[in-house]
Amino acid sequence: MVKIPNTFGMDVRTKVWAEYHSVDELRTLLSRYRGEQMMAVGAGSNLLFTGDYDGVLLHSAMRDTQVVSQTDTTIDIEAQAGLVMDDLVAQTVAQGLWGLENLSYIPGEVGASAVQNVGAYGVEAKDVIIAVKTIAIADGNERVFSNAECHYGYRDSIFKNQLKGQYIVTSVIYRLSKTPKPVLDYGHLRAVTGDTPTPQQVREAVTTIRRQKLPEVNEIGSAGSFFKNPVVPTEQFQALLAQYPTMPHFAVEGGVKIPAAWLIEQCGWKGKRLGGAQVYDKQPLVLVNADQATPQDVMTLAEQICQSVKTRFNITINPEVNYI
Ligand code: EPU
Repeated sequence: MVKIPNTFGMDVRTKVWAEYHSVDELRTLLSRYRGEQMMAVGAGSNLLFTGDYDGVLLHSAMRDTQVVSQTDTTIDIEAQAGLVMDDLVAQTVAQGLWGLENLSYIPGEVGASAVQNVGAYGVEAKDVIIAVKTIAIADGNERVFSNAECHYGYRDSIFKNQLKGQYIVTSVIYRLSKTPKPVLDYGHLRAVTGDTPTPQQVREAVTTIRRQKLPEVNEIGSAGSFFKNPVVPTEQFQALLAQYPTMPHFAVEGGVKIPAAWLIEQCGWKGKRLGGAQVYDKQPLVLVNADQATPQDVMTLAEQICQSVKTRFNITINPEVNYI
């Protein structure tokens, strides 16, 4: 059994870890291991392996970018799935391009970010993705999904639902802007950047905020936010607000979003520990591997948190992290 790289720093193993350096090599691997349990993984920054994996994990070692088309105002860049997302952001920001700067310093790779629709500071991957190139696990054929065909939602896509486990993302095409398109309305971002920043200044501001709040995955294991922020119906929100006037909230489609971090903090979980797993003290939405946590420690802690938020607020919070 081979150790599975994962940002949680969990000691979990797989029968086979196979890296591919070309789409042809990926097709060869798919044929060789046909009949086995198989899945593609990135850096493991949104995964919780609940135990060892009795199958074949495929990982892209393809990390190139190329310009596929451009106009006076936009540029379409194709990035291969194995490229570290933040390296892509750094490259595009250095060229003065707009679109990815708010996604600075998010752990993970390009392929997984398109499956998960990662987001931060008012931008989601779906806002800049125009197409996702994939290979079907069943027959090795290429299928290109348009943005609409990906059925993107909050930390969600067709690749996590109807088509789960069926396609492997090989590259993602982003449409970036050559003209200023700053998105600065999340939190205190604008206060830091002013109204007319460069993409580089937005990147620096976002990176600084993330470093203050979120654990560095190479120092403390985590998978970023462990839970999604719940959306509650307006009537339930009104009743809650009457009871908790300081409750933070954001109007969204279909109701009101309440930060899970606040709910978890109210339930007294900040900094709490169970076995080797811990609720991060600066951002309780994040569960960390404080000391040789096992998957069971993390799962039990997560269940207890969900249960107490449900009991206290009658709100169901769901993991953002994918359990494997
Ligand atoms: N809050 C608390 N206590 C805390 C921290 C936050 O009550 O200790 C409340 C505050 O009211 C704060 C609010 O939560 O205003 C929002 O906090 P923050 O801006 O840190 O964002 P978040 O909603 O907790 C989401 C994403 C993060 C992303 C940030 C910034 C999800 C699940 N998480 O967190 O994404 O970086 O917004 O855009 O939507 C990730 O997905 O891995 C991730 C880190």
